[in-house]
Amino acid sequence: MSKTTYISISSQKGGVGKTTINVLAASVFHFLANQKVAVIDCDYPQHSLEGMRNGDLEQLENNPQRAAEFEALDRQAYPVVACEVKDALDIAQQMEGQFDLVFIDTPGTINVPGIIELWKQTDYIFIPVEADKLSISATLTYASVLQQFIMGQPDSRLKQFYAFWNKHIKSEKQDFYTRTEEVFAAQGIPFLQSRVEQSVNYKKEGMRSTMFPLGKEYMRLGISSLVEEMARIIFPDAAAATAPEDAAAPNEAL
Ligand SMILES: Nc1ncnc2c1ncn2[C@@H]1O[C@H](COP(=O)(O)OP(=O)(O)O)[C@@H](O)[C@H]1O
Ligand SMILES: [Mg+2]
Repeated sequence: MSKTTYISISSQKGGVGKTTINVLAASVFHFLANQKVAVIDCDYPQHSLEGMRNGDLEQLENNPQRAAEFEALDRQAYPVVACEVKDALDIAQQMEGQFDLVFIDTPGTINVPGIIELWKQTDYIFIPVEADKLSISATLTYASVLQQFIMGQPDSRLKQFYAFWNKHIKSEKQDFYTRTEEVFAAQGIPFLQSRVEQSVNYKKEGMRSTMFPLGKEYMRLGISSLVEEMARIIFPDAAAATAPEDAAAPNEAL
């Protein structure tokens, strides 16, 4: 197995979609791009990602039809390991070489022992941003922490971090979005082009499943382009070297 790449959808703000996008991206890479994926949920004591997995397992137990559908997938679910931040680094390091991609869901605050060391263990950080002042200022603060204490440090593997819009509303404040991207660019913070749309679908049961591939109807909401953009960043060689018809390229199956 080739080298493991560590990814975190993280931010210094609660409720922006960290857990949601970690699950969706992990599921797309695992089920649709056939990558060997693991997830570390160290948002202690909330562990909402582990809670999602437990809910999914319960559903399989109580719903024979769903259980049969899972059987028919013929694809094991990816492991979800819940722990505290201070233990996450060890767990992540033990995963080295065992997985292609490890997604790490962290708490929305920097005031947790071990979080700086954990971010140093990530190769790429993607920061969901909502179109409001609080979310934007929290992102600027977070980015400056990453720039000052993580990026370029000798013991850090962080290659780059990116902001991206989550809960984007197409019909609203396009000016605000572009101006914010310009401000971020001036501070050396790249923005992904993909925007994940605000949608009521996130309230639907099974939308954020940890055991089933994401339904096609949900991929339209900016998720497929987000994950494709992430794949081009994470696997630049595969993207450059692979002809479009080669199904082995991680981003081709998306
Ligand atoms: N693109 C979106 N559109 C609508 N609701 C969303 C979207 N992304 C996340 N949410 C909702 O926002 C809430 C917070 O998301 P969550 O992933 O738990 O955030 P965090 O992990 O950053 O605290 C959840 O209720 C989730 O369903
Ligand atoms: Mg969360």
